[in-house]
Amino acid sequence: MEVFEAISKRFSNRKFLEKQISNEDLNKILKAGMQAPVGRGKYEDMHITVIQNKDLLNEISNLADRSVFYSAPTLVIISARDDGHGLDKENSACVAMNMLLSATALGIGNIYLNLVIGLIKENKEVLNKLNLPEGFVPIVGVGLGYADGSHIKNHEISIDYM
Ligand SMILES: Cc1cc2nc3c(=O)[nH]c(=O)nc-3n(C[C@H](O)[C@H](O)[C@H](O)COP(=O)(O)O)c2cc1C
Repeated sequence: MEVFEAISKRFSNRKFLEKQISNEDLNKILKAGMQAPVGRGKYEDMHITVIQNKDLLNEISNLADRSVFYSAPTLVIISARDDGHGLDKENSACVAMNMLLSATALGIGNIYLNLVIGLIKENKEVLNKLNLPEGFVPIVGVGLGYADGSHIKNHEISIDYM
């Protein structure tokens, strides 16, 4: 799929089918995430966790009384280590965005997730299960799976030309 088509077709999917994505597609999405721009080229300050284990997904889902990752069968957590330049959020968003667009190009539903991150950070037991390397903090979640339905969007952002 051409990049402009993927950009226009991407939407936040909030209804996933149970079917898991293939390892081949997952690897393409992860690889796309790794090709994102990262401030100062410090890729060693970034970490990706892929969660497909149903018990752990259920445990995370149970952290809230409402759906925070919409039963996506694959939950990717992008974590970062802040080296004092405060770029951890921007870097994680760049990695996530590449994942969302590449998933769209592969016909895989996806969503950028922030709420789930707060819940994970608050729950030390679940946070410990992520087994993050020393100094890394979860920043962005990405839900992946097959979409149950489609969506039409046409967002606009105000522009000034000067
Ligand atoms: C920084 C950021 C945080 C977001 N967090 C969540 C979230 O926690 N839960 C959720 O359902 N959607 C979340 N979204 C998705 C937005 O709600 C969505 O992108 C926006 O409403 C536009 O819709 P679209 O993605 O379908 O084009 C987040 C998006 C961004 C960029």
